[in-house]
Amino acid sequence: MMRTRPLKVALLGCGVVGSEVARIMTTHADDLTARIGAPVELAGVAVRRPSKVREGIDPALITTDATALLKRGDIDVAIEVIGGIEPARTLITTAFEHGISVVSANKALLAQDGAALHAAAEQYGLDLYYEAAVAGAIPLVRPMRESLAGDKINRVMGIVNGTTNFILDKMDSTGAGYQEALDEATALGYAEADPTADVEGYDAAAKAAILAGIAFHTRVRLDDVYREGMTEVSAADFASAKRMGCTIKLLAILERAADGESVTARVHPAMIPLSHPLASVREAYNAVFVEAEAAGRLMFYGPGAGGSPTASAVLGDLVAVCRNKLAEATGPGESAYTQLPVSPMGDVVTRYHISLDVADKPGVLAQVATTFAEHGVSIDTVRQQGRPDGVGNEASLVVVTHRAPDASLSGTVEALRKLDTVRGVASIMRVEGE
Ligand code: HSE
Repeated sequence: MMRTRPLKVALLGCGVVGSEVARIMTTHADDLTARIGAPVELAGVAVRRPSKVREGIDPALITTDATALLKRGDIDVAIEVIGGIEPARTLITTAFEHGISVVSANKALLAQDGAALHAAAEQYGLDLYYEAAVAGAIPLVRPMRESLAGDKINRVMGIVNGTTNFILDKMDSTGAGYQEALDEATALGYAEADPTADVEGYDAAAKAAILAGIAFHTRVRLDDVYREGMTEVSAADFASAKRMGCTIKLLAILERAADGESVTARVHPAMIPLSHPLASVREAYNAVFVEAEAAGRLMFYGPGAGGSPTASAVLGDLVAVCRNKLAEATGPGESAYTQLPVSPMGDVVTRYHISLDVADKPGVLAQVATTFAEHGVSIDTVRQQGRPDGVGNEASLVVVTHRAPDASLSGTVEALRKLDTVRGVASIMRVEGE
């Protein structure tokens, strides 16, 4: 039966995503009403700059006082698309204190304070939904929280940052260096004026923390995620990757340890074979590969950013939260019952691709091989070639290892750097996806 009293929505933030949310709420009002079972009404829009022209939004709805909007007593759902920690955190808490369920797209806040926000939602018997916080339009949070709730996820590996994927894809397809590819990404609007959050992996690490918590039913905070950016990836690394039949991606990798007693969460650039499904994710697209015990391997793919795709995820959450309201129920809350510890990066088992500049004389290869052996790292392949820059009596040595703990691999590299015959370590990259 259709309820005639509308569910009232407060929109907190009206930037690229918020304005799309408002537009779709207006243009698709009839469909949303039919799907929810009650009309849904935009009751107020909190912004920082009220003078900005916002097409399609009734100026009477605009306010700069988000707190007053939440406290006025008739709001059912708040949509937080402000981003950042404050004032978003205080506003979400205020919403819960006033009986308002929340839909948020705020990855940084959820990665940092997800546990406290979930606890507040539960305390007041309300919903906290955040599909848009990870990988834009791609349905991922809800499939992992709900569709896979009966399965056991052992591994998640994904490209969760579109800006860096665009840059790496350009480097791969054109042979460009990092700076040239970044400049193109900036000119096309993929990279922000300050690209630090993307290129240094902070954005991906926040998403990794959220996904790891959901995948393993435990608490993983931003600080638990090992993070390396992709600013050091060079055209030479891509040339090496190509020789191995690989490409390079900035990956978020979340794993349950073999004994099931701990988990790891990391973000770093890595070589992956061209045959891996993630290798074919081009431009600014995102994709996440989930390995579950019963389901097997699943891949989620699509646009991971942008106003319209992110608004799609927000609207999906809005419909779910409104349906819950009408049913006087709530959706799933935090599931952190396993309380698994997050192991340090040194415990991760992976493979390395290492390029060394070495003296080209008898015994050097044996010395290098001994260093690997002393650290318990088994070599898979070694390739030696004269230096492309024609430096006499020197050679480039490319070593690919078998799987070993990251601590042993980095200990090996440290020892290699100290050898007189090793002139320099040109690049080190993890190899994943086999
Ligand atoms: N800046 C992000 C990206 C989108 O490039 O994927 C928002 O998380």
